[in-house]
Amino acid sequence: MTTTSDASAAAARPAEEFLRAFHDRAPGLQSAGAGSSRTADGRTSYQMLAGRVPQARRVLDLGCADGALLQVLAEGGAEVLAGIDLSEGELALARRRPALATADLRHGRAQQLPFRNGSFDTVVSHMALMLMEDVEQVAAEVARVLAPGGTLAVAVGGGPVAGEAMELFLALARPHFKATPTELRMPRLGDRRTRQREGLDEILAPAGFEPVSWEQIVIDMGGTPEEVWKANSGTFYDMVELDEDRSGRLHDAFMEESRPLLTPDGRLPCGMRINIATTRLRD
Ligand SMILES: C[S@@+](CC[C@H](N)C(=O)[O-])C[C@H]1O[C@@H](n2cnc3c(N)ncnc32)[C@H](O)[C@@H]1O
Repeated sequence: MTTTSDASAAAARPAEEFLRAFHDRAPGLQSAGAGSSRTADGRTSYQMLAGRVPQARRVLDLGCADGALLQVLAEGGAEVLAGIDLSEGELALARRRPALATADLRHGRAQQLPFRNGSFDTVVSHMALMLMEDVEQVAAEVARVLAPGGTLAVAVGGGPVAGEAMELFLALARPHFKATPTELRMPRLGDRRTRQREGLDEILAPAGFEPVSWEQIVIDMGGTPEEVWKANSGTFYDMVELDEDRSGRLHDAFMEESRPLLTPDGRLPCGMRINIATTRLRD
């Protein structure tokens, strides 16, 4: 049931309300895409991020959704697992994972973490920090719940690989997004500084973090043209702005214009870059 205070909080934070509603409607969508996309050496971006925190024993995942990353961390030896997300629908899926049977999964905001000071040695976040508002407040909360010397590792979007299908998809989709009447536009999500090394340092340093180390990986979202269309149209939140007609026209244009990119075996190359930033809370 929605209370008056829930309703006024949602009205005050349209971006978070948008994300909550989107993920409640389509829980598991993000992890289905990320879980089936691989780096050149065959790993998922969850495995790549988990590989940056091999020491993690007491770990919190910000924007954990359906628990895909927490599961990888559990399999890697983390003993105390916690996650927080805006979407109850996503958390319901996370609670069904046997590997997360004892995990502390909370419905809430990363800006107000319901955990005690110094509870974790590691905080992670996969494709979620970049969507959060008041990101300085998130950084302060992460610093509070981490033990001194603790690690923060985040994966944030790095854009399409040049000359491949995601770049084409975006080039064709942007005019449609721009044509959406203002009153039908989705709220602006997150803080762009989180996607750049310098920007992230600007946010994290005042909370007590060392400069981040920064690595770019590429995940392969290629496949048949229909598979690539599905992966791309499921990746970008902005697609909710398009009605059936505009979405259909975008689909047809994508099918037509992606033909020259097809490999001889009928595969459409589609790479997405992901930036992984790792840092440590000063002692
Ligand atoms: C793109 S999805 C990524 C989910 C998951 N980390 C993964 O990669 O499978 C972003 C998630 O962050 C959550 N989220 C966004 N802002 C949040 C906030 N301020 N506090 C908690 N969760 C948030 C959303 O509800 C959503 O589940």
